[in-house]
Amino acid sequence: MKTLKQLMIFAFVLLTAQAIWSQENEYTIIPKPVQVQPATGQFTFNSATRLVLEKGLKPEVADAFFTLAGHLKAAAGIDLKTTRSGASNVIICRPNKQLLSPESYRLNIEKNRIIVEAGDPAGFFYASQSLRQLLPAAIESSTLQENVRWAVPCGRIDDTPNYRYRGMHLDVCRHFSTKEEVMGYIDQLAFLKINTFHWHLTEDQAWRIEIKKYPRLTEVGAFRNRTLAYNSARSLQWDNTRVGGFYTQDDIREVIDYAKKRFIQIIPEIELPGHAVAALAAYPEYSCSGGPFTVEGKWGIFNDVFCSREETFGFLEGILDEVAALFPYPYIHIGGDECPKLRWSRCHACQERIKAEGLKNEHELQSYFVNRIGRFLASKGKKIIGWDEILEGDGLMPDAVVMSWRGTEGGVAAARQGHDVIMTPNQYLYLDYYQSKESGEPPAIGGFVPIQKVYEYNPTPAELTPAEARHIWGVQANVWTEYMPNPKHREYMIFPRIAALAEIAWLPQDKKDYNDFKHRLLALFRHYDVEGINYSKAIDKQ
Ligand code: ACM
Ligand code: ZN
Repeated sequence: MKTLKQLMIFAFVLLTAQAIWSQENEYTIIPKPVQVQPATGQFTFNSATRLVLEKGLKPEVADAFFTLAGHLKAAAGIDLKTTRSGASNVIICRPNKQLLSPESYRLNIEKNRIIVEAGDPAGFFYASQSLRQLLPAAIESSTLQENVRWAVPCGRIDDTPNYRYRGMHLDVCRHFSTKEEVMGYIDQLAFLKINTFHWHLTEDQAWRIEIKKYPRLTEVGAFRNRTLAYNSARSLQWDNTRVGGFYTQDDIREVIDYAKKRFIQIIPEIELPGHAVAALAAYPEYSCSGGPFTVEGKWGIFNDVFCSREETFGFLEGILDEVAALFPYPYIHIGGDECPKLRWSRCHACQERIKAEGLKNEHELQSYFVNRIGRFLASKGKKIIGWDEILEGDGLMPDAVVMSWRGTEGGVAAARQGHDVIMTPNQYLYLDYYQSKESGEPPAIGGFVPIQKVYEYNPTPAELTPAEARHIWGVQANVWTEYMPNPKHREYMIFPRIAALAEIAWLPQDKKDYNDFKHRLLALFRHYDVEGINYSKAIDKQ
């Protein structure tokens, strides 16, 4: 005979269990899907779960699930095999050409099956990333995790990106990132449905890409003997350690292939005519003064830039020949920013060039430089992207794409001139700026870009007409690494602001909700905890 007390405890336990089971499902995905229709119940992965490719789907579609399958294998011990039929305990892949874009997908998660629809492998890949985010964070573990229910909430998700260009940049020149670190970064971009990696490969402080015709670019240009750095007392001090590194062309092909499997295109950046000291240290004959130069160890803007004499164009074309052959994408970023005109103003060859081409001044020489390189690349089937200074001077070639970084004005002007535009304004999207005003932040370059500011940025400038606004391809955050000397420090500056970037690139402005984002971010943090990512916790104090 049970006592009354025992019965009451029994009733309490039942009620609590009921409350837990009927608790609303949560859909903690970043970027937030455009539409979620909640449902009750869950689908649970186990060793019998299969991936079913319906008729009409090529076997490659199964490859789009490779990251999810890899995580299921490592953390859950589940081998997600592919079959051509099956009705229960399955993920059914179904072709759907009616969706808005090749990146769109639809997920229907039911208790005994998941139906994934997409028109293209990219859509299937994004569906798989959403499933990965819905799984318990232990899915990120590289070792087998016991006693985890590998469940995702039932519901229907209809999803499509707002912008076609969703980018993250990385400066590997001020401080080097190894090939493996770059691949790790690409993994993180893919997890958040970012589809472009802007690889900033050349600078005053280093040249990082092997060019077979000009071996000294990396033999000399990839290394520097000293670096001006902060010490712990935040005073500037020379660090006399010789540092450097570069990517061979084989390394680059490997990274391109790695990114492609994750539906990420790479935009390589070869800086010209400024930010060129490392190249000039290797080949001083392509400067105005003849040098000599050493690879820079200070940060900033330097007067020694590429000279506009004929031989320099031959040199740059030799470099761009190899870059164009290496990267299988239509666009090459040619820099164009922060090019002082001092040397050109005093250089006989540059002044002769100005006369011969009928240019008014050194600003027009800058546009001559950019357009000439643009025409050369056009002959190789490539188009150029440049920082907003490429609007300087006298008429930019029409199919050049402008990256607006000095605020949004360059982007607005470019869109009005009919150029396609990528918005990357420093006051919202420079991740080398401080993210917190708390004491104890590591030294940053300056500025203040808390995650909320990133989140609130609307990539389409309000002053554009709808026709002009169609030129806004998308949005990107930049990671300049002057004050990010190592991978953990870079992670601290990138995460979690990258999640806000991913969401503003994906979700239409009218669907954004910062409090809701903050809530979902907590779930993402659990994934990052398992991965050991050194993300900033500044948001807890905001
Ligand atoms: C830039 O930040 N100089 C493009
Ligand atoms: Zn010159």
